[in-house]
Amino acid sequence: MKIIKLYTVLMLIFFISINAQQNYNGKKISSDLFGLFFEDINYAADGGLYAELVQNRSFEYNPTEQKIWNPLSFWEYICPGFSIGRINVETNSPIHPNNPHYIVLDVEHVGHEKNYKGESGVGIKNSGFAGIAIKSGEKYNLTMFARQLSKDPISLSVSLQSPSGKTIYAENNFAVSSGKWKKYFTTLNSTVNSDSAVLVILATTKCKLALDVISLFPEKTFKNRPNGLRADLAQLLADMKPKFIRFPGGCLAHGDGLGNMYRWKNTIGPIEERKEQRNIWGYNQTAGLGYYEYFQFCEDIGAKPLPVLPAGVCCQNSGGTWRIGGTGQKALPMNEMSEYVKEVLDLIEWANGPVTSKWGAKRASAGHPKSFNLQYIGIGNEDKITPEFEERFKMIFDAVKKKYPEIIVIGTVGPFHSGDDFEKGWKIANDLKIPIVDEHYYVNPDWFLSNQNRYDSYKRNGTKVYLGEYASWGNKIRNAIAEAAYMTSLERNGDVVSMASYAPLFAKKDFTQWKTDMIFFDNTKICLTPNYYVQKMFSANQGDLYFDNVISANGKDSTLAFSCVQDTKTSDIILKLVNASVKSKKAKIDLTGFSNLIPDAELTVFSGSANSENTLDNPQIVVPVSSSIRVSGKFEYSLPEWSLSVIRIKSKN
Ligand code: AHR
Repeated sequence: MKIIKLYTVLMLIFFISINAQQNYNGKKISSDLFGLFFEDINYAADGGLYAELVQNRSFEYNPTEQKIWNPLSFWEYICPGFSIGRINVETNSPIHPNNPHYIVLDVEHVGHEKNYKGESGVGIKNSGFAGIAIKSGEKYNLTMFARQLSKDPISLSVSLQSPSGKTIYAENNFAVSSGKWKKYFTTLNSTVNSDSAVLVILATTKCKLALDVISLFPEKTFKNRPNGLRADLAQLLADMKPKFIRFPGGCLAHGDGLGNMYRWKNTIGPIEERKEQRNIWGYNQTAGLGYYEYFQFCEDIGAKPLPVLPAGVCCQNSGGTWRIGGTGQKALPMNEMSEYVKEVLDLIEWANGPVTSKWGAKRASAGHPKSFNLQYIGIGNEDKITPEFEERFKMIFDAVKKKYPEIIVIGTVGPFHSGDDFEKGWKIANDLKIPIVDEHYYVNPDWFLSNQNRYDSYKRNGTKVYLGEYASWGNKIRNAIAEAAYMTSLERNGDVVSMASYAPLFAKKDFTQWKTDMIFFDNTKICLTPNYYVQKMFSANQGDLYFDNVISANGKDSTLAFSCVQDTKTSDIILKLVNASVKSKKAKIDLTGFSNLIPDAELTVFSGSANSENTLDNPQIVVPVSSSIRVSGKFEYSLPEWSLSVIRIKSKN
């Protein structure tokens, strides 16, 4: 009798759980959850994603960026064949006031030394960002501005050469024929592969001429855009299928001192009219990768643009961490604030306004009459929450809300996951009913494992979270897997966490200011970190409905983390299973609540030993492996040590 009773109870429990699954609708979560954070740190822009091959193309480098820099940095004056001349940096008649420096070449004598085998003349040589990388059979587009300062026609030779000048890789000639600044264009066809080419511009006739904005791009940029992006790096980002891209920073956005704030208007229009400036990370930013290029790239890869603008205050670390004699946080004087608020509003008009509007017309004339469909705007970046900040933030927030109520403003709550700025920032968010705020934290991997319940207790109907910068300190498997575990908790809390982006994104070898980054590169090679692979596996497998109780383990185990989401556009069910321990472990999967699933599913597994990592010279030590898996209503899955597994199941609908 007792046995029959127990059997009945067990059956009841069984049916209840099946019913619960069948009636389960899923929780709506953000459809913009995983995106990218881009900041020009570690030479991520110039010398990195921005495909320009010439360094200091506009002769604007200066000692405020690095003490030894000047307008001729990365250029060398040359006079082969015993030619005679001189070079000067001048400022009295520039192409545009934003671009004050240019050079003047004065060629007195073009030598014809008998034994000299190369071309003779007077000119300059640029070695790019640690060499110019070129490929055999590829074309390189050279543009430059020149102005004739002497009477006779001027012949110029441009070439890509070996550093010693002994071998010419590609060459072309043209004539300069205008006494006014004029843009010249030529193509160089490379016949070799080299990662250390130099660009040489040589005046080969007696003359005097001015030169500026000497620029060299590979013809093959991402989507062949002029003034475009390095195709291999951009493609890596596209492959992640990010829902948004945040730019231009980070601390770079609010800047190193008030005069160093990133002002978006200086970064649009023809490149020769953009304003270069030092960035907070201690080097020059050409602004060649400016707001137009950021927005265009977002559109090209189907990501929503998320520009972050200063809240009228500069970085509280101004001068502190990075240089001596800084200012700390400073605020724009109140009498400059209405102009500044207008600058923020103008950005929205520039991005979305009709071509008949003042700023919409500028977008159209740059080649994009259609709206960029801006939905989000960030105001402030982990600022110290002072009364000055609060007052200015509120002015901007109110003005945007009034003029553009459809725009979602993202506020900021300091640089850490807790503490004074965090508390004060959240108070402002609650008081002003800011739609979303930006949380930042860089912590050790254990923090991510032990804080997976952080957002479970957040208010569901108030201000949402954009986890705008996060990473565990390191690029080993253990770091990436800890982040993966945490990311399952972001999905579970996708009704509160609207967006999240790992930071920083890029780091160029030998030009790095921040140690833990997602993608390392040099001029030819790329190293994808374990963190990149984890981000990609989440980002390319996002859903907008979250289901509880689909995956379970025996007992409580904080080294295991799971999530189940559905992408309602495709109806695919996506399971993510994380094992942050050295032992392989088992999980039970119950799909009986879903109908019409196709049993043959895609499986991607990323695993390795805790301390494995990839390097530029050995980038394939740990990579995800894809295969297929046959799923059924209920089945067991074995999670390898230190692993993230993604199972993507299609349905018959
Ligand atoms: O991601 C690197 C830096 O970390 C960002 O610029 C800043 O916002 C944060 O402190």
